[in-house]
Amino acid sequence: MKNLLSINDLSKADALEILDTAVELSRLSENTVRKFPTLRGRTVVNLFFEDSTRTRISFEAAAKRLSADVINFSAKGSSLSKGESLKDTALTLQAMGADAVIIRHSASGAAHQLARQEWMKGSVINAGDGTHEHPTQALLDAFTIRRRLRADSGDLTGLSVGIVGDVLHSRVARSNVLLLQKLGAEVILVAPPTLLPVGVDSWGAQVRYSLDDVLPLVDAVMMLRVQRERMEDLFFPTEREYSRNFGLNLERMNRLKNTAIVMHPGPMNRGLEISADSADSHQSVIVEQVANGVSVRMSVLYLLLGGATARDLNLSSAGGM
Ligand code: CP
Repeated sequence: MKNLLSINDLSKADALEILDTAVELSRLSENTVRKFPTLRGRTVVNLFFEDSTRTRISFEAAAKRLSADVINFSAKGSSLSKGESLKDTALTLQAMGADAVIIRHSASGAAHQLARQEWMKGSVINAGDGTHEHPTQALLDAFTIRRRLRADSGDLTGLSVGIVGDVLHSRVARSNVLLLQKLGAEVILVAPPTLLPVGVDSWGAQVRYSLDDVLPLVDAVMMLRVQRERMEDLFFPTEREYSRNFGLNLERMNRLKNTAIVMHPGPMNRGLEISADSADSHQSVIVEQVANGVSVRMSVLYLLLGGATARDLNLSSAGGM
C-alpha cells in the first residue's frame, strides 16, 4: 500500500496489521526502545491547510521516533497567501524530496487529488479532508477500543459503539463507521435529524434519536464535536437544548454499563457535547486516545514507508534494529 486516503483503502487484514504493529511499537516504546532508525534519511512533510493540535503534533512525534526528517508546513505564513495552488505547493515539496506528505485540508477530496494527480512521487496520508474522512483518527479510536475492551488482540466483533452528535460535519464519524464495521463492531449513530447527512441509511449503521435509550446498549460512546465553524445555518434551536438532548453529563453516564468507555476525538466543546466532569471521569479514555495516536501514526508511517510488517519489527527489535 502506498497511500492512506480513506478507510476504504484498507482490507480488514490491513487494518489489523496496522493495529498489531501499533501495539508492538507501543510496547517497545514503553520498554527500552524510544527511537527506531527505520526511516532514517526519509523526509516526511506535514502539509496542514487547516488548524490542528493532536494530529499534526502526533504525526511529527511519530515520524521523529522513526528517525525521519520532518518538515512542518502550515498555510499561515506560506506562499498560499500569495495565491499559490495546491499543485505548485505539491511540486515544490516533491522537489525538496518529500517521501511522504500528510495533508489536512478543508476541501473534501484534497488528499485524493494530491495522490491521483501524481504531483507527488511519495506517499500521501489523509489527515482530515473537509467533512469526508480522517482515517488515522478512526485507526487510533479502534486501537483504543481494542486495548480497553479486547486486550489488544483480535477484531471488535460483538462490541457496540455509539457515535453521538454532529455526524453531518464529521469526517471522524464517517471513517469510524467504515472501520468499526470492517472490524466487526455494531455502530449506532445518535443525532438530531438536522445533523445527519443525506444518505446516512446506506452507511450500514443504526440511526437513533434518543441518547438516553442508546447509552445502556453500548460498550463505547464517542461524542462528536459540534463543528460550529462549518455551520452557516442553524442546526438546533439553542446550545442549551442541544446539550440537554445530546450532551453527555454525569447523570446520563449512570445509564452506561460500568465497563463502557467514553471517547471524544478532540478538540472538545466542554459544556456543550460533553460536560467537564464526564470528560474527566474514570470511564473517559480521551487522553489515552491522544497518546495512542502516536503509536498508530508510527505504525502507518512504518508500514507505508518502511514496507515492513509487525513480524519484522519483532525480529528487528530483538536484534537491536
Ligand atoms: N482529532 C483531531 O483531528 O484533532 P486536531 O484537529 O487537534 O488534529
